[in-house]
Amino acid sequence: MFDANNTSNNNHSKGKVAIVGAGPGALDLITVRGQNYLKTADTIVYTGSLVPENMLSVAKADAEIVDTRSQVLEDWLPLVAERAKAGKTVVRLQDGDPSLYGALHELTVYLLERDIPFEVVPGVSAFQGAAARLQVELTVPELVQTIILTRMQGQTNVPTDEDLSSLASHRASLCLYLSAHHCKQAQEKLLEHYPPDTPMALLYRVGWDDEYVKLARLDEMVSLTHEQKLKRTVLYIISPALAGSPESRSRLYHEEHQHIFRPKK
Ligand SMILES: C[S@@+](CC[C@H](N)C(=O)[O-])C[C@H]1O[C@@H](n2cnc3c(N)ncnc32)[C@H](O)[C@@H]1O
Repeated sequence: MFDANNTSNNNHSKGKVAIVGAGPGALDLITVRGQNYLKTADTIVYTGSLVPENMLSVAKADAEIVDTRSQVLEDWLPLVAERAKAGKTVVRLQDGDPSLYGALHELTVYLLERDIPFEVVPGVSAFQGAAARLQVELTVPELVQTIILTRMQGQTNVPTDEDLSSLASHRASLCLYLSAHHCKQAQEKLLEHYPPDTPMALLYRVGWDDEYVKLARLDEMVSLTHEQKLKRTVLYIISPALAGSPESRSRLYHEEHQHIFRPKK
């Protein structure tokens, strides 16, 4: 977590760790800053199950590459610390944006405890990649103005106050991560509040070469997931905004709406 008194990020005598969001998978959806880190890194520690390997094609020929897909944190955290302490630039490359479901907390606590400088480089999260792929705005005026990012409980506990049925009661644009395994329970909970014909988008590995994207109804969420035999890397978006409503129009660009950059004529 950010500590204003922590000046270690300016300590250049040590190596450094850059925790870089890779985006949803397309090679050109990483930030320029993120890619620059990849180009100069001595060590790249990446989540092989969620980041396409060819994203590493820009790395230095002699860069050390470590795939952590079958490792636990305790396997690779010491390696990151050791390399940084030896003066190396280490990149931890993880899918989407590091602030979402990426064990960022554990990593930053570990680095802070050891006084190892680090920087977090944001990435395009799966829900943003998905919205762009669907060419939709998830906050359509008069229709929906809130986005909920959540997940079903799996091995990670979800606080009871955040149970999907209570979140569904808002009928917001709801983006459901990490939930393909539990899609049956998810659909049941969502249907407690959303009408069965609410538009639902299922996106598997959006941005990858083998992506699968389908717009359907909420009550088709389970059948579609099972039909396609999808178990992981699926994002569901449930939202009235997916229906597209030509009547809805933002006030920001409305001729009757004046603001500082467009005063009344
Ligand atoms: C461990 S979480 C990490 C999320 C990531 N930090 C982000 O901001 O997108 C992995 C989950 O994100 C979603 N996800 C990540 N990349 C995706 C993609 N390319 N297409 C669809 N869903 C994706 C899936 O729900 C997947 O199970």
